Parts: sequence; C-alpha cells; structure tokens
Amino acid sequence: MKDQINKAKENSTKEIERCKSLKELNDIRVKYLGKKGELTIILRGMGALSEEERPVIGSLVNEVKEEIEKLIQEKAEQLEQEQLNEKLKSEVIDVTLPGKKVKRGSKHPVNRIIEELEDLFVSMGYDVVSGPELETDEYCFERLNLPKGHPARDMQDSFYITSEYLLRTQTSAVQARAMMANKEKTPIRIVCPGKTYRRDDDATHSHQFGQIEGLVIDKNISLADLKGTLEIFVRKMLGDNLKLRFRPSYFPFTEPSYEVDVSCFKCGGKGCNLCKQTGWIEILGAGIVHPNVLKMNGYDPEKYSGFAFGTGLDRLAMFKYGITDIRLLYTNDVRFLKQFDRKDEENEIKY
Ligand code: PHE
Repeated sequence: MKDQINKAKENSTKEIERCKSLKELNDIRVKYLGKKGELTIILRGMGALSEEERPVIGSLVNEVKEEIEKLIQEKAEQLEQEQLNEKLKSEVIDVTLPGKKVKRGSKHPVNRIIEELEDLFVSMGYDVVSGPELETDEYCFERLNLPKGHPARDMQDSFYITSEYLLRTQTSAVQARAMMANKEKTPIRIVCPGKTYRRDDDATHSHQFGQIEGLVIDKNISLADLKGTLEIFVRKMLGDNLKLRFRPSYFPFTEPSYEVDVSCFKCGGKGCNLCKQTGWIEILGAGIVHPNVLKMNGYDPEKYSGFAFGTGLDRLAMFKYGITDIRLLYTNDVRFLKQFDRKDEENEIKY
C-alpha cells in the first residue's frame, strides 16, 4: 500500500509538472483527490489494515494529499499568471494611435440666415419673439384687418384644421400677438423668424417655408425709418452696394404697402436669368402699420405709428448662398449641408 501511495505521489508530481492548462490540472485533481480518486480509494480501503498500520498509512496518505494539493495550487497560480500575461500581450492597446474623429452635424443654411438676422436686429435694439405655428383665424387674419369673407384672404391658401384654427400662413400673426401681449401699450420693436404654411402645390413653392417678420411701433415712426431699416437689413445680408426699390403694393395690414425689390446681385442690375432680365429681384413685403390694426390691438393711432415687414427665409438663403434648387433646402443631404461649414471651420479654435 505504501508503494501505491508513493507511486501516486510520483506520478501526480510529474503530471502536474507537465500540465499545460487549468482544465488539465483539474483533471489531475479529480484523478488523485476526487471522490473516486486514487488516494481517496486508498483511504477508503484502510478498514482492511491492521491497527498498527492504519495510523501510519493514514498519515502518509494525508501528507501526500496535502503535498499534491500544494503542488496543484502552485501550478494553478503559475498557469493563471501565464494566461494573464498572454491576454495582456494580445490585447495590448497602442495609445499613440490617432482616435476616431467624431462627425459633427452642419448648420442648415436657413438657420444660418436666422442667426445672422437675429444678431443684426438685436444689435439694433429689437427683441426676438416667437408665436404658435397652429394659429387662430383671429390672429392670423382678423386682427390684421382681414375680416371673414375679405377677398384678400384668397392671397394665401390656408391649411385650416377647424374653422377657427389653421397653420399660420404668415408670421404677421405675431404682429397682433405682440401688440395684444403688451398690456401697457408701450413701444414695440420685435422680429419673429418662424415656420409658415400655405397650400401651394406648384413646382417652385413648398407647403412649408420660413418667414421673418419685423414690427416697430413708436411715436413718429415714418416711412423713412422703414426704408433705413430695410436698407441695413438687405445690405448686411446680400451685399453693401445694393439698391432698394419700393413698389406700391397691397397688404390689408399696412397702408401704404410696398413690395421691396433689390438690384440684382448677380448681374448688378444689367439683366440676367436670375432677375428675369429686369435688373431687380423682389425680396420683401412691407408697409406702415394700418391704423385699423393699431386700433384693433389696443394702440391709439393718434399717438402711435409703426412699420412692419416680412420676408421669406428660404428665398433669402437661396439668394445669399446661390442655391438654385429649393428642394435642396428640405432634403437635408449632409453633402449639401457640409458645404456651408467652411466659414465656421475658419473661425474654429484649433487645438
Ligand atoms: N405677411 C406678408 C406676406 O406673407 C408680408 C408682409 C409682412 C407685408 C409685413 C407687409 C408687412 O406676404
């Protein structure tokens, strides 16, 4: 029996030494120390031994068992360390490699126009305000001197949601809102950029487009103030040397009303395909606030006067950036939008 024990010790020591994996090591443990392991079986068979032999063999088996356990333990630690080293070697990270570039979105040209206009008008003391896109008939038309049944309502084909609510056809609705919201009836100087909607269905119009509205109400406001303001606006946006032309027109909420043309910035007024050979491009609607509108919204026309203007942001963006197809403004193709980033990149802080 002693021989058997020593043999087990010798074999297991060799096997442990040769062993290459934790799995193999576990098999060795089972082979010698497991429930049916060689040493376990020897221990079980001790009943057959004599009184004197039993403690001798018993302590020998336990000694060997402990030794094997110790060897297995040491080997396990060694294998684990080797495995870890292997893993560290294969998963090594090169911290000097350049990182992945985070792609940034691009600002939409219409948003660029809005930001530029807001900056310009804020610098002249205006507030930037907004109003609801789902508007009431009252604010979109009635409070702007356009009672129900007025023929001028046909100028703007509207999306009515109910008989009282519609998608606003013009940011002019915000004129009435600004006047009504001013309870003290003090002077007003606002611009309102925003989305507007009309039931246009031809190839050159979109059912949704952007407008910016301007409204100034104060004492002694005259056409000269409107002209000066629009000159600053147009020259800042489209070019310093441009000329403006005021053509008499009609809007129910202004009197007198004008359509404002700008000398063609492509041909300089000589006539080209952009200005349809006229040398002028129409860009704005404007006028002196109609006394009825002042009255209807709580301002005394004897005391106050004002001017208002409105223009399409999409057209402005197209003129400013030379965009020839309006659909490009609505399809959000990143390759298109990216082209407008150059200016931003020039101003970017470089690290
Ligand atoms: N709301 C008018 C339009 O959409 C433009 C306009 C605004 C005209 C303000 C006069 C004054 O056509």
